[in-house]
Amino acid sequence: MTGTTHSSDTLKAPLVDPSAWRGADLRDRTDWIVTLTATEIAEIEAALAETRDRRADLFALTKDDFALPTLSAKLEGLLPVLEGGRGFALLRGLPVERYSEEDARTIFWGLAQHVGIPERQDGAGNLMHDVRDTGKSFADSDTLRDYQTDAAINFHNDGADIFMLCCLQAGASGGESLLVSAVEVFNEAMRRRPDLAEVLQQACWHMDTRGQRRDGVKVQVMPIYTYWNGQLTPNYKNSLMYAAQRFPEVPPFTEKQREAIALLDEICGDPDVALSFVMEPGDIQIASNYATFHARTKYRDGGDPDRKRHLLRIWLTIPNGRPLPPNFEGTREFGATYARRMTPNGGQT
Ligand SMILES: [Fe+2]
Repeated sequence: MTGTTHSSDTLKAPLVDPSAWRGADLRDRTDWIVTLTATEIAEIEAALAETRDRRADLFALTKDDFALPTLSAKLEGLLPVLEGGRGFALLRGLPVERYSEEDARTIFWGLAQHVGIPERQDGAGNLMHDVRDTGKSFADSDTLRDYQTDAAINFHNDGADIFMLCCLQAGASGGESLLVSAVEVFNEAMRRRPDLAEVLQQACWHMDTRGQRRDGVKVQVMPIYTYWNGQLTPNYKNSLMYAAQRFPEVPPFTEKQREAIALLDEICGDPDVALSFVMEPGDIQIASNYATFHARTKYRDGGDPDRKRHLLRIWLTIPNGRPLPPNFEGTREFGATYARRMTPNGGQT
């Protein structure tokens, strides 16, 4: 499939979409939390035992190597929720305290195999990232990324169709997770300021690639929201848009751009729009990077080195993922998914 037959359009009204929800509507419901049963945990532990002799090559383990007789269908059942539904779920109840870190990595990788195909998350091709504080700040380095700090992270989307985050340790305080519907944020922007909703769809947004693109491109230029093929597909990280302003070849933000980002911040920060929750050890957050933006409050690790906040992250291409707009080709965030889904032979040459 190629995406070249459709050109992107400009959406001039709110989009009616199943992924347009407000936090206020979900806060008192629990249907977005999927709790693992004792049987399912036993399946996970049996699969883990089967991998015992093959850990040296963890990333070569496939779905067949990590058989989950009944849990597999439950995980696959999340796919229409992730694409075409509300866009996220929280898997709860994995007893991570029972497992070594190596076992937890293996379980997380094995579960992910039943959801999709892991994609690289950086220029080096790493398939699983550790989200924890390295003691550095974003401004210290051209390549450091938000997830390597203890700072608050603004609302944004990640790369590939979905991200999975597995909490191993929660940290001493803070680090609350926040999710918003990317479509509802757009719709609210359209209701308040249609002129700025148009700016959000213009290819005027320069983003620092943090040196992670294999072709060496330092700055990407594209819309925050691309309306294409009847869907609104975002690529939004305002920290990387501010960071791109340091390059002399990048034009300074226009007044309208500043207003547009401020409007997104304001809408995302509305407690009725965002859903907030605390990830407990063993929780696995699974969310679409098209349907949702996510954020995290600042956290504090405390003194005990064994109790520092630590999450594992995988980015996945899912089998029912949406066709991607042509301007997503080659991007740091979505290039791998684009190649796999939208180009002949999955981008293999
Ligand atoms: Fe993220």
